Amino acid sequence: MHAFHYRNGRLHCEEADLVQVAETHGTPLYVYSARTVRDHYRRLDQALGDLDHLICYAVKANSNRAILRLLVEQGAGFDIVSGGELYRVIAAGGDPARCTFAGVGKSREEIEYALAEGVFCFNVESEAELDYINRIAAAKGVRAPIALRVNPDVEAGAHKYVSTGRSENKFGIALDRVAAVYEAAARMSGIRIRGVQMHIGSQITDAQPFADAIAKVAPLVRAFRERYAIEFLSIGGGMGIVYESSFESGRRDWWEPSTSGEAPHALTIDEYAAATLPALRALGVRILLEPGRLLVGNAGILLTRVRYLKQAEQKKFVIVDAGMNDLIRPALYQSYHEIVPVIEPAGSNRERVDVVGPVCESGDFFAQDRELTELHEGELAAIMSAGAYGFVMASNYNSRPLPAEVLVDGARVGLVRERQTYADLVRGEHDF
Ligand code: LLP
Repeated sequence: MHAFHYRNGRLHCEEADLVQVAETHGTPLYVYSARTVRDHYRRLDQALGDLDHLICYAVKANSNRAILRLLVEQGAGFDIVSGGELYRVIAAGGDPARCTFAGVGKSREEIEYALAEGVFCFNVESEAELDYINRIAAAKGVRAPIALRVNPDVEAGAHKYVSTGRSENKFGIALDRVAAVYEAAARMSGIRIRGVQMHIGSQITDAQPFADAIAKVAPLVRAFRERYAIEFLSIGGGMGIVYESSFESGRRDWWEPSTSGEAPHALTIDEYAAATLPALRALGVRILLEPGRLLVGNAGILLTRVRYLKQAEQKKFVIVDAGMNDLIRPALYQSYHEIVPVIEPAGSNRERVDVVGPVCESGDFFAQDRELTELHEGELAAIMSAGAYGFVMASNYNSRPLPAEVLVDGARVGLVRERQTYADLVRGEHDF
């Protein structure tokens, strides 16, 4: 069970009363549960059992240093996609030698930085990139450790913006090309072949695509293990979590067993392990995983306060102080986030509303035409499961300062990122 629950009529994160947290730190506010992050890491780690594995947390999901630090303490490696993410991992005390560096457009500066810091591996997405990394490393007289990202061309069923394993996506090298590219890599003086990588998409709630993708790349891994002595296969991230949970009934976390009936489906840890472990064990190489959402998604909420209620002709709007600039997922992916009042409702007055932000866009909504417990002016609400791809995708659109972030561990509440000020908004701008 994730760590958000009602106690004495108020929503708590672990032992922290969110009414008090909001009074101290203001809203909109991201609140994260340290216990949940640790718990999720351990559950995944344990489910993998004796499989030789390394969990490389996908930093892009939530890159706050305090979150990274928690995962460093758990022994995690990191999946990074930029020099900035490498910098953050190092700032959090992480080891570059446990970092895989992915992304389709690495710059010279980023490649040089990652080489100097000694990253575990570059995940290479194209022949042009391989060539570029080779030239940079060879000029320095070193070999860059690489894995090629294989595109297994499977249908992962997630939203089209987060599906990456189809041949029409920009990611990875096609299965039928990949042997030739490894052969070319083996001849390059600045390259050391270290592994094979793949990733098929995000928020995948069915084990089958993972199993299909592994089955597709397994023959390659076996061949390359003989030919190039590769050490690992990275199977990427993408494991889906529960978003449509219910405080009254259903399943609230991804690791809980599936319940029949209307309970929302998401991959359970057992389903994932059962579908993938036998094939992975048989490969005889180390397995890397790159979960992002799975570790932090349910561990965070966006706390917001209702500013106004507006009854329009056709609809009722609940206008809150958080906006699409703080959490863009509903606008960008039509994604669902459960919204609950912080003060536990006494009755069961429900109404159909749109929950919207103050930003000047029609896309600025958190829920549309959704039946919710009645919310009143001035009341606090929690937008659930906002720990992944929440703050990291926030912007200053409409010149709204970025929200603060707090981390809760038991009864301890720590401000882990300050709310931006108006002065922050114009910092670095110059008159002309
Ligand atoms: N590895 C690679 C190569 C990836 O591209 C990603 C995510 C991950 C791992 C981690 O995936 P996860 O385990 O978190 O699903 N902003 C979107 C999600 C974008 C995912 C991008 N790649 C959202 O809010 O749903």
